[in-house]
Amino acid sequence: MIKGILITLEGPEGAGKTTVLQQLLPILEKQQVSFVTTREPGGIRIAEQIREIILAPENTAIDGKTELLLFAAARRQHLNEKVRPALAAGKLVIIDRFIDSSVAYQGYARGIEVADVEMINNFATDGLLPDLTLYFDVETAIGLSRVMSGDREVNRLDLEAQDMHQKVRAGYQAIAKANPQRIVTIDASNPLEDVVAATVLAIQTKFPELF
Ligand code: TYD
Repeated sequence: MIKGILITLEGPEGAGKTTVLQQLLPILEKQQVSFVTTREPGGIRIAEQIREIILAPENTAIDGKTELLLFAAARRQHLNEKVRPALAAGKLVIIDRFIDSSVAYQGYARGIEVADVEMINNFATDGLLPDLTLYFDVETAIGLSRVMSGDREVNRLDLEAQDMHQKVRAGYQAIAKANPQRIVTIDASNPLEDVVAATVLAIQTKFPELF
């Protein structure tokens, strides 16, 4: 079976990963790479519906474990319907957020045991791991100020305390340290063009055949 490549983008709020992804698209198109980009939670109808439940500002009653399970449900359906078929067709699939978001947010930040989050992740994905994860690291204050000054909608999780965002960042840094083979850290406090260049370089280094 042909196997594609799975790249995931991770980072705290305001790291700019979604903007970087948009800048990456024309570069991949120019190289005639056959790719699919998508996001979590969402990417397909059922998972977008779950996303609405998770992120609705009025749903403050959702506790950490419910949130974890909803993310996992959205993840599994999205993998089954969109990601695995694209990988099986030999495509490059780029997902904006994946398993490490659950470990950073629901694990390190919300305080669910990291081992439990990993177990749920594994259950939802049947053990599928990204071939490469780009972690966009930015200081909490810079990330949050970008979120608040941008024109993007502010969701329930954006409104959480700064303390939570600091824990998210510390969580990501721990995950990156523990998975040096899979995760490349990109300094996202730099100007956008530098961040895009670092992103392209990381992909080129790991998959020279793509360019
Ligand atoms: P989104 O608007 O996509 O944020 P961003 O542009 O920062 O990716 O909202 C996704 C939110 O969901 C974001 O705050 C991170 C959070 N999240 C988790 O807490 N756990 C998860 O497993 C995933 C996939 C996302």
